[in-house]
Amino acid sequence: MKVLVVGNGGREHALAWKLLQSQKIERVFCAPGNGGTATLAGCQNVDVTVDDFQGMAKLAHAEGISLVVVGPEVPLAKGISDYLQAQGLMVFGPNKMGAQIEASKAWAKALMQEAGVPTAKAAVFTDIVAAKSYIKSQGAPIVVKADGLAAGKGVIVAQAIAEAEAALDAIFGGQFGSAGNFVVIEECLVGQEVSVLALTDGLTIRPLLPAQDHKRIGEGDTGENTGGMGAYAPAPVATPAMMARVQTEVLEPTIAALQGKGIDYRGVLYAGLMVAPDGEFKVLEFNCRFGDPETQVILPMLDTPLEDLLLACVQQRLGDMPPITWKDGASATVVAASGGYPGDYAKGKVITGLQEAEIAGATVFHAGTKLLDSQVVSDGGRVLNVTAIGADFKQALDRAYAGIAKIEFAGMYYRRDIGHRVMS
Ligand code: AMP
Ligand code: GLY
Repeated sequence: MKVLVVGNGGREHALAWKLLQSQKIERVFCAPGNGGTATLAGCQNVDVTVDDFQGMAKLAHAEGISLVVVGPEVPLAKGISDYLQAQGLMVFGPNKMGAQIEASKAWAKALMQEAGVPTAKAAVFTDIVAAKSYIKSQGAPIVVKADGLAAGKGVIVAQAIAEAEAALDAIFGGQFGSAGNFVVIEECLVGQEVSVLALTDGLTIRPLLPAQDHKRIGEGDTGENTGGMGAYAPAPVATPAMMARVQTEVLEPTIAALQGKGIDYRGVLYAGLMVAPDGEFKVLEFNCRFGDPETQVILPMLDTPLEDLLLACVQQRLGDMPPITWKDGASATVVAASGGYPGDYAKGKVITGLQEAEIAGATVFHAGTKLLDSQVVSDGGRVLNVTAIGADFKQALDRAYAGIAKIEFAGMYYRRDIGHRVMS
């Protein structure tokens, strides 16, 4: 079987790597891929961008590709699944209607309220005057969210009224384009965040191991928000008792509400949860795709063949599958970033020590890298995800850090405290 993975991040490298562990997978194509998928045995990058749906269909037909797995949210929100399915291809990832769960925070909030899913109290505005007066009536801290996709930058957790007002000025002022036509303002929740990624065929929904990301650039969870600086799984904050409640109070009602709207949702439903100190949880938001870097820690723990699960979702027979099985122990990933990220940073820096990191017991998933004259060079803000599994968190983290210590590129930065919550 041949598979096409759409995207170019660490998530897509991890998906291709996991798929290629199966005898059933003959070849993986990655569109457009990165330096990691270019050098992965059995994997081949193709020069097709993530929004070139026609190019993808042509490639899939020419190469006899049976399954397309979509990584990022942007092509899903633009209807990649609708288009490729209409061309007779099997696609893992929701259609355009379903992708609204991530592409419109107002739509997702209304769905959560309809489904009775626990979530922060919120109101939606299209008018800045009404939005500002609502903020004054609620007080700070308060959270302001641009409705649409904003590459992770559309959420402002404002500690003061003035900061919330400035966020509204930016959003209504067009800083996020049409993503800012609506604004969701919601109560600020406190606690620990956890990502529950679940696989669904539109009828049945099954969670993967809960994972915890580290969003801030600085140690001790300080500084600016990023796409994620490291992660681990299974996140102990999501206890088995809590996961059972997430299934019945979040995942199942959401799938039922989607069905009620006539939406046949097949792919990943990713619930970002805030767990309060008393153990109560609320949904912060939904994503319509695999998380990054959560996928890089979840997939190494998966024992059930990934392609069996993805195909069961696409063919709507997830309910017939035996329970998903996992390795014992724990998994961790540390992100190596370009100096200056999440602000400005340089690209094109030669990366050394990748093989030595693997010899030290880590698996290196590439994010922002590319091959240039047979050298791997940096090509983005988050460059590498140095990942390891172990008998426990300490072993997994020790291996990941032993691996990253072998790697060098000019300006490389990484957090030394990934996993601090499970190590203290
Ligand atoms: P993103 O996943 O990029 O949309 O970022 C959303 C992030 O904003 C979450 O991971 C939280 O850290 C934060 N956030 C979103 N909603 C709330 C909320 N109601 N209370 C506190 N923090 C929030
Ligand atoms: N790790 C956060 C995300 O994938 O949205």
